Amino acid sequence: MNPETANMTSSPMTPWSPDSWRGLPAAQQPVYRDPAAVVAVLAELCELPSLVVAEEVDFLQRLLAEAAEGKRFLLQGGDCAEAFADCRGSIIQDKMRVLLQMSLLITHGGRTGVIHLGRIAGQYAKPRSGLTETVNGQEVPVYRGDLINGLAPDQREADPRRLLDAYYRAAATLNHLRALMDGGFADLHHPEHWDLSWSREDAGHYLETLDQVRNSMDFIQRLGGLPEHLRTGEMFTSHEALHLPFETAMTRFVPEQGRHYNLGAHFVWVGERTRQLEGAHLEYLRGIANPIGLKVGASMTPDTLRVALSKLDPDRKPGRLTLITRFGAGRAEAVLPALIETARAEGHPVLWSCDPMHGNGRTVMTGLSPEQEAEGHRAGGAARGDSRMMREVKTRAFGDILQELQEVATLHRAHGSRMGAVHFELTGEPVTECTGGMEGLDEAGLQRAYRSGCDPRLNRSQSLEMAFLIAQMIRE
Ligand code: PEP
Ligand code: CO
Repeated sequence: MNPETANMTSSPMTPWSPDSWRGLPAAQQPVYRDPAAVVAVLAELCELPSLVVAEEVDFLQRLLAEAAEGKRFLLQGGDCAEAFADCRGSIIQDKMRVLLQMSLLITHGGRTGVIHLGRIAGQYAKPRSGLTETVNGQEVPVYRGDLINGLAPDQREADPRRLLDAYYRAAATLNHLRALMDGGFADLHHPEHWDLSWSREDAGHYLETLDQVRNSMDFIQRLGGLPEHLRTGEMFTSHEALHLPFETAMTRFVPEQGRHYNLGAHFVWVGERTRQLEGAHLEYLRGIANPIGLKVGASMTPDTLRVALSKLDPDRKPGRLTLITRFGAGRAEAVLPALIETARAEGHPVLWSCDPMHGNGRTVMTGLSPEQEAEGHRAGGAARGDSRMMREVKTRAFGDILQELQEVATLHRAHGSRMGAVHFELTGEPVTECTGGMEGLDEAGLQRAYRSGCDPRLNRSQSLEMAFLIAQMIRE
């Protein structure tokens, strides 16, 4: 046997260690110019205090087990890629507020307790389709997320100091989340934090429901608060476990539990581009005790899923595995029923989540942002309306996102399963990155406030509207 393929055969029976992925092919890893500097930074990370503790991780796993049984609903959301520059109180608060507001609407309308899981405090690394891209006529390495390099074309070299920067910014973000929660941000006795105000036009036909939610909240406050199973007082963190040396450095052996945990987040997931059966990412994930997510795209076959399930969840542990499907509108029917059947036949008590974002991306032309346009003018650039003043952006249509959610929810129901979770890219800021929704944002309007360095996010108004629709969908 050729030694390379011999190396690639790992099975759940081979011994695992936080480093056992190292001999296997690892997709999407950056190449650093100075490997010794990376080693030094990783050694420092290994000694730093963990961001979360094993008890919290186990608690989330128990909640996810309840969600898989149909007793709770998981709401996972946040930026596609967190930017270091967005590690700011107001941005974190707005994101948290929109998640909690969505949760309130889903709890109210869907009659179910909601688990909050942010794509936050560590969502800094991105898988990319190419190695390079052209910016302003120049070929530069792709942007891989602030963990690795910078979005500005002159900062594209992978820089190991960013690994430490990511740790400290994740710590600051998580500290702020914890302080907000401890300080009563999510407490229903502080309705000002829940401010569901929407302009009358924006709220449209949801005005009546909003009034009902407000009345229910008044009533609950008079009763002394929500019962435990509907309480909103937890905020968990998650990110894609992409950069394996970094994730390994955040992995700790916890003697009380006798297991290794990734204590850089409560939950980590493996992406569509790194889930090769014999690859390094699955090898790393199979050994950590955290609840984990597996992205499942339209190319997933029942056979591949069967092997992935047996690697990642050999003990068939409730709450361990969340399957996050991301097919694209109109594509679930051809794939999902057989996958539902596979998980059931193999006896894995998975939680099914729907990510209606990543299968629905489109590239369109829009104008420059107001800032870019001003720059163009300062530099003596072209006049408004000139085709040189256009740029390509990625967008997603609210209608496609909703369609995929509806199709997936319906297919689960038809096959005796349940969509118990949703996964969104969203922000609390008034960005213009996805089209549609009640605001009626069109492609020409995307230029107004397109801020994402990566994929397009739902803004607050679009997120709340989506939450109304999800509540309806899961109650039906
Ligand atoms: C993501 O969730 O940001 C992502 C890249 O998703 P996927 O792996 O499903 O493409
Ligand atoms: Co994304």
